[in-house]
Amino acid sequence: MKQTIHVVGLASGKIVAKLEATKTFQGTLMDFLMNNRIPIASSCAGAGTCKKCIINGVQLSCQISLKDFMGDKETAVVEVSYL
Ligand code: FES
Repeated sequence: MKQTIHVVGLASGKIVAKLEATKTFQGTLMDFLMNNRIPIASSCAGAGTCKKCIINGVQLSCQISLKDFMGDKETAVVEVSYL
């Protein structure tokens, strides 16, 4: 099953990117987004302390794996406030 992430910028009001999630990717959601050139803010490099990497209003993207974030969903939305 193909899984897609729609990255929505709340500042621009636009879909910034549509990314295909790869089942084999082992890293965090933040790693995946940054690997796809989505500029996710961070000053703690994923330690979970700066809280700048928040997506969807509440989720630290550095503290959840891409796999867990996607689950069985075909499509997921990542909203980033400053994009
Ligand atoms: S990168 Fe700092 S809390 Fe996620």
